[in-house]
This record gives sequence, C-alpha cells and structure tokens, in this order.
Amino acid sequence: MAEAREAKPVRITDTSFRDAHQSLLATRMRTEDMLPIAPKMDQVGFHSMEVWGGATFDSAMRYLNEDPWERLRLLKEKLPNTPLQMLLRAQNVVGYKHYPDDIVERFIVRAKANGIDIFRIFDALNDPRNMAWAMKIAKREGAHVQAAICYTISPVHTIEKYVEMAKELVDMGADSICIKDMAGLLSPYVAYELVSRLKQEIEVPIQLHTHYTSGMATATVLKAIEAGVDIVDTAISSLALGSSQPPVETLVAILKGTPRDPGLDLKLLSEIAEYFSKVREKYKAFEAPLRVDVNVLRYQIPGGMLSNLVAQLKEQKALHLLPKVLEEVPRVREELGYPPLVTPTSQIVGTQAVLNVLFGERYKIIPQEVKAYIKGFYGRPPAPIDPEVKKLAIGDEEPINCRPADLIPPGFEKAKEEIGPLAKSEEDILSYALFPQVARPFLERRAKGTGFKEEITAAIAALLNLRRKKKVAPAPVAQPRPMQPAFSPWKLAGRPGTGGWVRW
Ligand code: CO
Repeated sequence: MAEAREAKPVRITDTSFRDAHQSLLATRMRTEDMLPIAPKMDQVGFHSMEVWGGATFDSAMRYLNEDPWERLRLLKEKLPNTPLQMLLRAQNVVGYKHYPDDIVERFIVRAKANGIDIFRIFDALNDPRNMAWAMKIAKREGAHVQAAICYTISPVHTIEKYVEMAKELVDMGADSICIKDMAGLLSPYVAYELVSRLKQEIEVPIQLHTHYTSGMATATVLKAIEAGVDIVDTAISSLALGSSQPPVETLVAILKGTPRDPGLDLKLLSEIAEYFSKVREKYKAFEAPLRVDVNVLRYQIPGGMLSNLVAQLKEQKALHLLPKVLEEVPRVREELGYPPLVTPTSQIVGTQAVLNVLFGERYKIIPQEVKAYIKGFYGRPPAPIDPEVKKLAIGDEEPINCRPADLIPPGFEKAKEEIGPLAKSEEDILSYALFPQVARPFLERRAKGTGFKEEITAAIAALLNLRRKKKVAPAPVAQPRPMQPAFSPWKLAGRPGTGGWVRW
C-alpha cells in the first residue's frame, strides 16, 4: 500500500441475491434457490447483503409468479444477523418512471417494516432533488440511508463534481456514500483518486459498487481499498465476473494478512460458491451472452445495454446496423446532456440511437419518453441539451424547472380503489400502484390459487394433444409465415428484467 490511509478491515457487501443474478441471469433466481443457502451466508460476516430492489421486484411477479414482499420476509427470517440492503431508484422506486410522493413514502415504510435495513438510493441523472424525498423518509423510519452517485465519464463529470455532489448528499442526511459504477467504467487509478478525494472531504463511510464488465473490477476495488474505501460490493465467485460484481474469494485472498483483510472464511465462502454453481445450471437459458468486454469503455455502453441492443436489432432483422448504433449512442448521449446510462436513461438514449439509425435520419422519430426527458420530467440533465435536438423534440416549449414529482398527484387511494379486494395488504396495493399491468394478473393468479406451473402443465398437455392429433391428421396444408409484428419503437426499449437495458 502506498500509504496506510485506513488500517481497518474493509467490509464486504454481498450482491448475490440481487445485482449478481440480475446482471448474469436476467433476474430470474427464485426465492426457493436463495433460502437453503441463506443461513450459511448469514454466518460469513458480510457488512450487508443486497437482496432486494432494482429489477427483482418487478421480475418476481412478472416472470416467477412470486410475491416480492414475501421473498423479503423469508430472507429476513433466514438472515437474522446480516443487515439487508435494497437498491432504490429514488423517486422511481423500483420502477421505470417517477411515482408520486405518497407511493414512495409508503413503499419505504413497508420495505423497512418487512426487513430492509439499508436503502441505497440513486437517481439516474444524479439530480439530488429526485433523491431528497426518499432519503428523508428512509431516515425518518430509522433506516441507514446510503446515497449513491452514478459514476459515468463525460466532459461534465469531473472528480470535482462528484465530490461536490457527495457533500450535498451528506448535507441532505446521507449516512454513507456509494460510488455506483453500474457499467464498470471506473478504472483503478481514477477510483484511487476519487476515493482519496472523498475521504478527504467527507466524514461518512464510502462504499464502492462496480461491475466486472470491462474486466477491471478487481483491480479497481483494490485501488479503492488502498485509497481507504470503507466497504466494497462483491458477489460469490460462481455468481461473479462477466457483467456481475468481482468475486469475493479472490479479494479475500488478495487481502490476506494485510491491515485491510476483511477476515472472511474462505472455506465457508467456497461452500457457498459450490451451492451457487449448481443453482446457476438451472438458469442457463437466461445467461447473459456477453462476458468481459472492453467495448464498454470505448462506447461507454453498459454490458446489459449492449446485449439488449443486439437482441432488439436482431428482432428488427437489422443486426448489421449494430456498429452504427454503437457509434450513435455516445452522440445521442452528448446531445441529451450526458446522462449516466442507467435505468431509465439507458433506455431513453438507447432507443433514440436505434431509431436514428433504423430510419436513416436522425431524430425523424422521437418517442414520448425522449420528449418527456427533454421536457425535464426525469430531472435536470448533467449538461444542457443540444438546442437543435430540443427544438425538434419539443419546439418552443420550455422544460419544467421544478422537481418532476411535484407535478404528480398522490396515487395510493386511487390504486387502492382500482385493485379492490384483490389486494390483501398495503404491500399488495403498492405492488399494484408500481406495476398495474404486472401486479393485477399476479394478484388474480394468487387469488385463484393458480400459478405458472399449472399454466405450463396445461400448455404442455395441449401441445402433446396437438401432436397426437397431428399424427392421424392428413398432411398439413402449408401455412403462410406469420407476419412480422408491426414496428413499435417502444419494443426497442426492452422488457424490464430481461437482462437487457433494464438492469441496474
Ligand atoms: Co450494479
């Protein structure tokens, strides 16, 4: 170590139950695969475990027929000794748009009551106005408020600006600060500089969250530790690397015998790794195709966004346009004021870039979400929006100047009325308020006592029946190929939780 800046053991947050499978397995890990290993993970001595939030909430109902609140309660039972952490998208909660203040408030209250101890709160535009309400409520509820800075690279994102933002977040009541490097862009030496500056300027603990996407993560974490970072995020090795976090065992081995040795039991960790390597087999179909990819540094496109661009272009039979889209993304990002590429800005920028290339004319089609962004409905962009693009999108209209949620009326009572007796608890109402189109079918299935399993069984039976019938039927008449579905720009935005752009 260059200097003994910090002699305390570094603390470790494990992300295996949230970011790791969200990044590697399209957020598909089921609660039943988490619970058996949870007691062992509880013995490790992690600083915290990130187990909830991000895309897991939506995915649980949408793809797994699971109640996310129930998952949290079950995990809390099995993890009594480890603080549980969630990723909260500030005013976007666990969704993809701004929600009213009453929904944000009730969600945090119920999340705390059901077991969350640490709220990691971020805003995609690093607009503190969007974070203030969530931070205030989490604080009021007695939770640990960790305010996150989304790390990105642009001419307007300087170390100075990040330090300034961190100070502002501490003034707003943050109990700790997280450097959230959702795309794996943070290089080891910049990490060293950034952490060093933050340690000089602010008193609260600093945590580093990064992704292995570009292959730098272990080195980045190590340099951050040398600079005195207090806590780092890792995943169990069998759920690490690729677009996930760096592996915990490697870090523990690197730090063995140094003043910053976290003191975790490697044998225990490798038993846990063994368990997850078997679990991972079950989710093979959802494996993210891309592993380490340094293109993320060239285009600054996060790994998940890249794989989704590929998928969406394939769907449009336009994969040959990928190189053009990759060149277009940074250009659109610049014109839109250099937003960090994280949910939901990654979808906004990515969709516009694809449309610009597909139509052969830039900004010929501008989706509603891009217009809303330009009007200020997602917050204040880090840099001014290109005046020509602004004019094309919203003409002479002036963007709003206030916090976007100030314009949203309360939503809880309306949601309660709409969902009616299908909701058995305040948690159910909140699920519905956040994701009406996903939560209603979920609550209906639950009320009927049917699940996906029954539906799958029925589908298989129907298929077998059809095949049996086909055997005795005359040779089938050639059917015309199904028509391609009509082009819809928002199909390009990717479905939430598919391991696409909606990742962080
Ligand atoms: Co992440």
